[in-house]
Amino acid sequence: MAYEFIQTRVEGDKVGIITLNRPKQLNALNGELMREMGQALKEFDGNEAIGCMIITGSEKAFAAGADIGAMATYSFADVYRDDYITRDWETIRSIRKPVIAAVSGFALGGGCELAMMCDFIIAADNAKFGQPEIKLGVIPGAGGTQRLPRAVGKSKAMDMCLTARMMDATEAERAGLVSRVVPLDKLMDEALGAALIICGFGRLAVMAAKECVNRAFEGSLNDGVMFERRLFHALFATTDQKEGMDAFVNKRAAAFKHQ
Ligand code: CAA
Repeated sequence: MAYEFIQTRVEGDKVGIITLNRPKQLNALNGELMREMGQALKEFDGNEAIGCMIITGSEKAFAAGADIGAMATYSFADVYRDDYITRDWETIRSIRKPVIAAVSGFALGGGCELAMMCDFIIAADNAKFGQPEIKLGVIPGAGGTQRLPRAVGKSKAMDMCLTARMMDATEAERAGLVSRVVPLDKLMDEALGAALIICGFGRLAVMAAKECVNRAFEGSLNDGVMFERRLFHALFATTDQKEGMDAFVNKRAAAFKHQ
């Protein structure tokens, strides 16, 4: 199956690899990319031969977030009515085989949220994680305010969401956001090695382990994510969202009016 915004391949006849492929936009996540990723994940999940999946990006960016250019002019009505921006993001949560995020470079905004939706994150030593949506006059809209505190605790999560600062790979490992950090040139070998180990175990036990760990991790997550979604959409009714995104698109400093 040919995709426009992702590439897929199978390694060792059992590991499905999805590579985000919008290099000029630092793999910014638009609706079509997320629809393609959902489709590829579902195909791998339904393929008997595949035991594990890996999502990865480029050396410079896993993904620099949701596509700001595409979002910049959306109104509250657009995003609320059609569940725009994050509509196809939840597909990954329905995938029953393990999904590993292999992250190098920027994993910001929706990119950090996508990595956190995967079952675990293996990071290259150049990885940078962040939730900088506050700079655009909005908040994380794909689970960031819910998954980040669960992963790194309230204080670091607040720090990242409120100041927009990035966390490097060392800090991310220390905080528990990522499971391992490896040199950039070893990233895919490490992720593939982990995936092949998983593929060697009993498929049912693997699926059960994933389901149980998620149960521990995601209690009441639905409420949290839905609450977040409504507020994320509501911010498209503000002047500051238009200002923040227009400023990014036009490469100027934002002047927020707090309305
Ligand atoms: N959306 C659209 N385009 C993006 C993008 C994004 N999220 N991030 C980067 N790009 C584009 C840039 O506009 C630029 O395009 P042009 O070459 O056409 O100008 C290209 O990618 C390269 O980016 P930079 O020139 O900015 O590269 P840099 O190395 O100087 O900076 C960066 C890299 C720090 C990641 C910077 O690009 C950046 O801050 N990006 C935005 C990050 C962000 O705010 N993400 C949150 C998005 S909102 C969100 O994700 C909502 C949600 O929760 C669902």
